[in-house]
Amino acid sequence: MAKSVRRAKHDMIAYVRFRKQTSASASAVQTPEYIAWYEPEHDVLAWAAEHFAQRMGRSTWMITTPRGAAFWDGQQLHLEQRRALPGDHRRDTADEAEALWLAYYRSTFNPARLNEAALEQHMPVRFWKGLPEGHLIPAIISEAKNGARRVAQASGVGALSGKTIPIEADMAQPVRDQPSSLDACRRCDLWRNATQAVGSSGPSRARIMLIGEQPGDQEDLSGQPFVGPAGQLLTIAITRAGLSRDQIYLTNAVKHFKWEPRGKRRLHKTPGQREIEACSYWLERELRTVRPAVIVALGATALTALLRGKVSLRDHLDAPFKVEGGWGIATYHPSFALRQQNDADRDKVLADISKALIRAREFAESATPTGTKEQ
Ligand code: URA
Repeated sequence: MAKSVRRAKHDMIAYVRFRKQTSASASAVQTPEYIAWYEPEHDVLAWAAEHFAQRMGRSTWMITTPRGAAFWDGQQLHLEQRRALPGDHRRDTADEAEALWLAYYRSTFNPARLNEAALEQHMPVRFWKGLPEGHLIPAIISEAKNGARRVAQASGVGALSGKTIPIEADMAQPVRDQPSSLDACRRCDLWRNATQAVGSSGPSRARIMLIGEQPGDQEDLSGQPFVGPAGQLLTIAITRAGLSRDQIYLTNAVKHFKWEPRGKRRLHKTPGQREIEACSYWLERELRTVRPAVIVALGATALTALLRGKVSLRDHLDAPFKVEGGWGIATYHPSFALRQQNDADRDKVLADISKALIRAREFAESATPTGTKEQ
């Protein structure tokens, strides 16, 4: 019995997950900054709470359990015995850190190395319901069993040195269904080093679609397109063109962040033709769903993806073309403005992007613009 109680305390310390309250709710009188729900095997709340009281400094927190609650007001621990209240259990107000944690958990899972028995031994199934990542585990186990394990294993083995097998690695794979959700995309290798796939933002019936190149560092972490420095510049250009981000469907030609390490930084690396082609599956789906009147390609990668072949950006600047049943406009990528050496050059690129967006707005408003060429 004593051993089992000690174990329950140890488990509680390992599996309690705090969620940060929003600033609005945390500012309410006596609302702790962090709240956790946990169902211990034994009545170990007071004992385990000591551990958190020593570890979490002056942050205020509360752990609620079916039999009572522990509240730390920043200086003192308060314990309260009570019966469970309806709706007491898991809240579904995940915080920002939790989204990041889930993305991290998912991206570090290696399907080739799944050992279900070991996983369940280290993190028993009864704890999953209290963990934010708990709901992911059954899905990733089933994905691993449904082929992801073999795909990851095959490419891992393929990377080992040894005798060359005289067939293309792609051809050595049996034909199997590709994942149908962007999250699970393995069409090229970029998912391996990315935190998550980054989809689109904006209305799915937008008149204007903007295609960027690929998510950057901040987009990779947040899961949202164009939220980093290039995105901020793009927002300025959009506003100057008399548009707002909420009217525009924003997406990228490639949905995973391609990067290489440089010291502690992750440095953007331009996606290759093979990656653009692999990702065209998703872009084509978006084009079919949104059916925008105007598509603006931001930079050469986006233009290559849109026109399905390597093309020169320079040749298409200021020359709108017909594409996908609407109009296509090519302009610079906002990161090109960021790379300019001085303010005047940066402003010039930004002005060109705004001009292209003004044109996009006019095209979207009027059905048949003039002075265009057929692609
Ligand atoms: N650059 C892009 O092309 N897309 C993003 O989402 C961010 C930076």
